[in-house]
Amino acid sequence: MEVIITEEEQIGSLVADEIQQLLAGKPEAVLGLATGSSPLHVYDELARRTAEGEMSFARARGFTLDEYVGLPSWHPCSYRTVIDEELVSRVDFAPDAVRALDGSAADLAEACAEYERGIEAAGGVDLQILGIGTDGHIAFNEPGSSFASRTRVKTLTAQTRRDNARFFGGEVDAVPRHCVTQGLGTIMQARRIVLIAIGGGKAEAVHHLVEGAVSAKWPGTILQHHPHVTLVVDEAAASRLQFADYYRYVYAYRDAVGEAPAA
Ligand code: GLP
Repeated sequence: MEVIITEEEQIGSLVADEIQQLLAGKPEAVLGLATGSSPLHVYDELARRTAEGEMSFARARGFTLDEYVGLPSWHPCSYRTVIDEELVSRVDFAPDAVRALDGSAADLAEACAEYERGIEAAGGVDLQILGIGTDGHIAFNEPGSSFASRTRVKTLTAQTRRDNARFFGGEVDAVPRHCVTQGLGTIMQARRIVLIAIGGGKAEAVHHLVEGAVSAKWPGTILQHHPHVTLVVDEAAASRLQFADYYRYVYAYRDAVGEAPAA
């Protein structure tokens, strides 16, 4: 796993560079789009670059990761609304190019299965953007999630409902108890994964993600088995990484393979 420790202000342009490069080589690329606060710098930067004519999403497609059960798609806290506001409406995606899970479908199991088919029909996700929960969840795969899981209904932990209450006016009781989420097995099929974590609240989850034992207790640890993951974190989120100095060193010399050390 590549670990990049940087200033929070740099995260947007660093990750936007990856996406811009991908779309330059493959304009019809499929993006996996996380919601939550972690990718917001990236989405701001993508919106800016699109407005400046530096890049285009006109042929790209996207899939969001997860959704609350019971919230209609127009609800201000639904991830459909959030991704539309934070990214889709600010760049030039074609209409309906970004799909989101429907948490108010009458048949949730069928909606989940259909979503899986949609990802497959699109050719799979080229680049998946992820955040991580303080309890180590990715998408809404809470501790105990099967590493082989596919898109399905899950029950949120009390911790996640408390963490996400800030989006619901601080009301924990307003946060739905259930969600639909891409599974860990689904996410692992993305060809490239970029996970962003910001702030000291993520430090423990980040430590386990990179350096801990692979365990259902910290679902994000499954990413240790993925061949192409980049973790982009600020200093606070990196504060519990035991090998932080080594990761900084690796990054500093990433383009210098084969160069002899200074005499
Ligand atoms: C939420 C979302 C995740 C997100 C994570 C971190 O519950 N379901 O997809 O990555 O938790 O959220 P944030 O980026 O707001 O810290």
